[in-house]
Amino acid sequence: MNTITLNNGVTMPQLGFGVWQVADDEAESAVATALSAGYRSIDTAKLYHNEAGVGRAVRESGIARDELFITTKLWNDEHGYDSALRAFDASMERLGLDVLDLYLIHWPAPAQDKYVETWKALEKLYADGRVRAIGVSNFTVQTLDRLLDKADVVPAVNQIELHPQLAQDALRAYDSAHGIATEAWSPLGQGKGLLDEPVLTRIAAKHDRTPAQVVLRWHIQLGNVVIPKSVTPERIRQNIDVFDFELDPADMTEIASMDAGRRLGPDPATFG
Ligand code: A2P
Repeated sequence: MNTITLNNGVTMPQLGFGVWQVADDEAESAVATALSAGYRSIDTAKLYHNEAGVGRAVRESGIARDELFITTKLWNDEHGYDSALRAFDASMERLGLDVLDLYLIHWPAPAQDKYVETWKALEKLYADGRVRAIGVSNFTVQTLDRLLDKADVVPAVNQIELHPQLAQDALRAYDSAHGIATEAWSPLGQGKGLLDEPVLTRIAAKHDRTPAQVVLRWHIQLGNVVIPKSVTPERIRQNIDVFDFELDPADMTEIASMDAGRRLGPDPATFG
């Protein structure tokens, strides 16, 4: 498994398993399937209501804790210094873990204007050794500029919606210039639709792979961290099997041409 080194020296698998929209009971078996397929990074959130199921699968896997990388996120109604500290404790209680690998602010929620305060709480959790790395999700250039101005710790990660139809070149460049790793949510563009695009089916046929594998490989070659979601065992296995082929520069250029600024999720400038 490829890993990337975060700005504090912690390593993170470049490909992990996402569990958005996976019910708690289903999460346990999906995560168990993912762990046995070789995934070592799991991405959950308070919002997903499945931290308990994720925690059960992790604890029951028998895999050494230091071989696993677990991410969760603070929800929009948990912003603020004290409530962020409480939110972290509650997530850890549900996960049943002592130390977390990565804690993210799920959305900047700019109208609440509390993300700097929230960040100070994450810095405390980090200083106290309760989490190995802290980061953000759905931050824009504007919200990152303000955060970086006030932060003592530069976020390790910015997890954003990113797929071939929303390639986020400017934000990726900003992250990279500031030492922030870019992590892609909905890396497959939520599956259907995107995966039927002729550009992708053609490149997939050329490499004898599936369109999903081509998209994941595109992310890997760009240096993104990716967390594809699936509840289908065959797809869970297929999505991690992307480290033994390579897209050529022409493939990468063709996929880049699919960028249409097409957002599937909310606009971070106004959401929350
Ligand atoms: P399912 O969970 O039913 O297997 P994203 O990670 O971009 O949000 O995409 C998740 C969606 O893509 C889910 O609906 C998932 O379906 C589907 N999906 C995941 N992996 C594949 C794959 N290898 N081929 C086709 N669809 C996939």
